[in-house]
Amino acid sequence: MSERINVMLSQETIAARVRELGAQITREYADRALVLVCVLKGSFVFASDLARAIDLPMRIDFLGVRSYGEGTESSGVVQITQDLSRPIALEDVLIVEDIVDTGLTIAHLMDLFRTRQPRSVKVASLLHKPARSKVEVKIDYLGFTIEDKFVVGYGLDFAEKYRNLPYIGVVERT
Ligand code: IMP
Ligand code: MG
Repeated sequence: MSERINVMLSQETIAARVRELGAQITREYADRALVLVCVLKGSFVFASDLARAIDLPMRIDFLGVRSYGEGTESSGVVQITQDLSRPIALEDVLIVEDIVDTGLTIAHLMDLFRTRQPRSVKVASLLHKPARSKVEVKIDYLGFTIEDKFVVGYGLDFAEKYRNLPYIGVVERT
């Protein structure tokens, strides 16, 4: 059995949307103490492009999270594999996610971060798969809503493969 990737969102389509989100965030966070939290590993590509599309002073930090095993189904258990390097008290935190699927990861991170008393916590996610939602989460800055297909590329993986694809695609087993 081999795998083929069908393009869902091209490099150009993603780049244009990331620029729009960056401009919107730049307008809305003017004069704020912005901390971009890149949720590893999946959002490392989106976060690095989004950071460069935001024209504001910011701090960037990383949070390691694991919610999937080797397969394509969420285990439902969110594990922090690496915490932030600094406190976020009184800061304006923007969590950057690759995809909100069941919503469990973001819901868990919002709860965790609120205990640290930031000034605000918002969410930017490149993708949203509403069909699989298990908990209601508010996505403040959303790239694209997609149908219920397992996608890879632009940071997203299938068993750690395909993170380096410059586009978002769907894995097809042939
Ligand atoms: P959630 O907790 O179910 O909302 O999903 C959390 C994480 O699962 C995301 O941040 C991704 O890392 C991963 N994930 C969900 N759907 C996909 C997908 O279609 N492809 C690759 N990873 C996914
Ligand atoms: Mg993720």
